[in-house]
Amino acid sequence: MTTRRTLVVGNWKMHGSRARNAELLAAILAAAPGAAELAVCAPFPYLADAAAALSGSALALGAQDCSAHAEGAYTGEVSAAMLAEIGCRYVIVGHSERRAQHGESDGLVAQKAQAALAHGLTPIVCVGETLLQREHGQTGAVVGRQLAAVIGQLGERIGAIVLAYEPVWAIGTGRTASPQQAQEVHALLRAQLQAAMGTAAAQVRILYGGSVKPDNAATLFAQPDIDGGLIGGASLKAADFVAIARAAT
Ligand code: PGA
Repeated sequence: MTTRRTLVVGNWKMHGSRARNAELLAAILAAAPGAAELAVCAPFPYLADAAAALSGSALALGAQDCSAHAEGAYTGEVSAAMLAEIGCRYVIVGHSERRAQHGESDGLVAQKAQAALAHGLTPIVCVGETLLQREHGQTGAVVGRQLAAVIGQLGERIGAIVLAYEPVWAIGTGRTASPQQAQEVHALLRAQLQAAMGTAAAQVRILYGGSVKPDNAATLFAQPDIDGGLIGGASLKAADFVAIARAAT
């Protein structure tokens, strides 16, 4: 018996301004359907504004990264405690852009997930293979290794994360994984969770991310192991984000 509630998360990346964010949030709040759980992950400087705009609403707030450290001499880093204090419920960790552009290792990503949980945030842990890895038949091994690092770090607490499968070749490219391709990987990830934590793995939400749009969202979300989406480009347009949220209900 699974009771997973669909989750749709917008990842704004490094986009927005105070004025544009206010407009976007107002438009989403005015139109968002109630049945799916929704969140937006804003850039750090805008989190406090967004928390105020979303206060009392059902739309949750998240950040796009956090430090693995609790506190200290880490110039430029932001701790999970700071994010929790400002009103975040979620934090994305291990996005492929951070893995690729900032050299984040599987181990560091796992530590960030642990730091998030330690401060009451739900980490949205991203895993995914590159096109070359897929073409070499390494998809299962790559995402398996990425998830294993997090399982190794968190142990029994693994059930408290949200997992996101984001094939690198589908991010921002307009090239979406087919629902079958995505489901195949989601099923592998679910099986790996099950091996680690038993039947409770059925409660862990696994989101798909990578060029999710209003016209492909419903068929992706209809797959048995796809429990929602992590939305980049389409989360910057209120109408598209709301349409994707509707597809999840
Ligand atoms: P995209 O980004 O929807 O623009 O492909 C998804 C992501 O990077 O989380």
